[in-house]
This record gives sequence, C-alpha cells and structure tokens, in this order.
Amino acid sequence: MPMLPPIGLGTFQNTYGDECIESVTTALDVGYRHVDTAQDYGTEAFVGEALAESDVDREEVFVATKVWNDNLAYDDVMQTVEESRNRLGLDTIDLLYIHWPAGAYDPEETLAAFDELYEAGDIRHVGVSNFTVEELERARAVLDAPIFANQIEVHPLCQQPDLREYCAEADIEVVGYSPLARGRVVDVSELRDIAAEYDATAAQVSLAWARQRDVTPVPMARTEQYIKENYASLNLTLSEETLATIDALDEERRTIDPAYAPW
Ligand SMILES: NC(=O)c1ccc[n+]([C@@H]2O[C@H](COP(=O)([O-])OP(=O)(O)OC[C@H]3O[C@@H](n4cnc5c(N)ncnc54)[C@H](OP(=O)(O)O)[C@@H]3O)[C@@H](O)[C@H]2O)c1
Repeated sequence: MPMLPPIGLGTFQNTYGDECIESVTTALDVGYRHVDTAQDYGTEAFVGEALAESDVDREEVFVATKVWNDNLAYDDVMQTVEESRNRLGLDTIDLLYIHWPAGAYDPEETLAAFDELYEAGDIRHVGVSNFTVEELERARAVLDAPIFANQIEVHPLCQQPDLREYCAEADIEVVGYSPLARGRVVDVSELRDIAAEYDATAAQVSLAWARQRDVTPVPMARTEQYIKENYASLNLTLSEETLATIDALDEERRTIDPAYAPW
C-alpha cells in the first residue's frame, strides 16, 4: 500500500447510488487508488459497494472517510466508526479524519477515541480536516498517534501557503479538497492560457499545480470524461515558472466557509 496515492476521487454530493458506484468503479478502472468519502456525504455505502464489486484488490486502494461533527464525543466516535466500517465493508479504514474541529469536538475526548481506534488497528492513519495551525497544535499536544494528514481547501484561488508550510514542517500530508474550486477553475483566464500552452485543460493545470506543490488533490467527478481527464493530470508537469505564475493567483477565496469553521 503506497503511503498516499497522488490523486483521489472525491464523492461529496455524488449521492445518487448508481451514479456514485459507477464513478468509483470507473475511477478504479482508470487507475485511481484513493477514494475520499465521509459519514456526512451519505456515500460510504456506495464506495463500499464499488470496492466490493471491483477487480482491484482492496489492499491496493486507500480509503478515507470522516467522522461528522455530531459524532465526535468518545462513544459516538466508537459507534459511528463501526457503522462506517460496515457501510464501507472494510475491517480497516486507511485514513479516518475528524471532519471539522466543531460540534461535539473536544480534543481530549475525541482524540482519545481516535488513538484507541489506531491502537486497535481499526484505522491505519489518523487525519484531521479543516484544522488551522492553532487547532493542529492543540491536537498534537493530546494525541499519541501521529497526525497523518490535514484535509483543507486548496486550489489556485485558495492556496493556504502558511498552513501548508506548517504541515510540511510537522510532516503532515496536505490533502486538497475542492481542488477545482467546485468547477470554477475552468473560468479563470490565466489558467486557461496556461492550459493552452501545455495542451491540457484548466482543471488538469490546477491538479498538477497542487501535486507539484505537495498537495494531494481529491477532485470530485461524476462523468467518465472528467474522471479520466483529472487522472491524466498525473502526466502533466508544469515548469517552475508556470508554478510561480499560479502561486500569484491566490485570492484567499474559499468555496467552503460555514459558520462553524475555526478561522
Ligand atoms: N473536508 C471537507 O470539509 C471537504 C469539503 C469539501 C469537499 N471535500 C472533498 O473534496 C472533494 C472535492 O471537492 P468538491 O466536490 O467540493 O469540488 P471540486 O472537486 O473542486 O469540483 C467538483 C466539480 O467540478 C466538476 N469537475 C470535475 N472534473 C472537472 C473537469 N475536469 N473539468 C471541469 N469541471 C470538472 C464536477 O462536475 P460534475 O459534477 O459534472 O462531475 C463538480 O461539479 C469532495 O468530493 C470531497 O470528497 C471535503
């Protein structure tokens, strides 16, 4: 099992059963070995079905899910993660995130449950999502297990350089969510110009930029065309000059910004 495959398939809002199963199945056929789901998305069971039906060996696929805000008290973590494992059809979840430091999140209580799941081998890695530097520091002071990844919004319009730098220094992987700014990157003229130069698409340019900046993107796509297009970004390498041009596009423009966010 590779540590963290370089691109994952997101499943947020891909909630029609057959369509989601088909997307995950197509992605596995195309070569994706990382699937991102969450208790809150309602897609764990579809991911589980696609994994069970696939010819790809389960051990080759890195499966990540997230515990929702309401379920972060100790007993609720233990109970709902058992339910997630059942829906996914997995003995072990490769990466289990705290979805947000919000709701019932309490570092001592929540992280004790995550440590226990880690010690028991029910999860391979502990992850957090939407954690700021301050929240990461609080969690690291309590947790015995290492924090493997912080899943945060990253795309050319929202780059979060300081948080990424902190993660790099702390040896925490950055997984980039909404890496296409929920489809908006295709309308950014600078990205379209770069795409034309590289005979690629603006989506591929955004995903290659993320990868080359040490971010693992998890784009969501439903159609075979987008699933393949996004995967093919692995074959695209941007020059350092192009990467710097994209670095300069940061507008700190989030697409996901709920009232309970820690920032
Ligand atoms: N941790 C968190 O709090 C959090 C928050 C948000 C998202 N996430 C994770 O990150 C994943 C991705 O984020 P997201 O779903 O918000 O947004 P995204 O991946 O940035 O964008 C998805 C949108 O882009 C479109 N798209 C996909 N590939 C494309 C391409 N090659 N060209 C043009 N458009 C394309 C999709 O269209 P179609 O619908 O037509 O396929 C969909 O509308 C989620 O699915 C989820 O797993 C996590």
